[in-house]
Amino acid sequence: MMNFTINGQPAAFDGDPQMPLLWFLRDEIGLTGTKFGCGMALCGACTVHVDGLPLRSCVTPVSAVVGKNVVTIEAAEKDKIGQIIQTAWVEEQVPQCGYCQSGQIMSAMALLSHKADPSDADIDAAMSGNICRCAAYPRIRAAIHKAAEALKS
Ligand code: FES
Ligand code: FES
Repeated sequence: MMNFTINGQPAAFDGDPQMPLLWFLRDEIGLTGTKFGCGMALCGACTVHVDGLPLRSCVTPVSAVVGKNVVTIEAAEKDKIGQIIQTAWVEEQVPQCGYCQSGQIMSAMALLSHKADPSDADIDAAMSGNICRCAAYPRIRAAIHKAAEALKS
């Protein structure tokens, strides 16, 4: 039996240890906010946090998170930085189709957790692995700056 924590709750799985974490999240426990895009660690749609760091769940076997704390977009609103980012996302009207957005927000949360006042270059570097087919990049950057400002107050 593999045991880990998902969004603060204990979770366990006794299936194939090589199954992608993304399948466990979506198909086994119904957390469908994390999206499947490329399946090859190229687009960032499947980004979750593992022990506070962003990780591509499409290429991560579930066995790799045994004993670790996985956080998905469903828990973002319980996190102060996640809340502030989601508010900024709404105010800047970031999403178009929305498909990439949970991954974008998880990467933005990781960035602001480690760098409270990122420059444009910091943002571009941290977000470079999250592809947006709708090209919402200027609004993503604006929303991250807005969230960083809000975090200061
Ligand atoms: S679905 Fe995982 S990086 Fe694209
Ligand atoms: S909002 Fe459509 S892919 Fe990013």
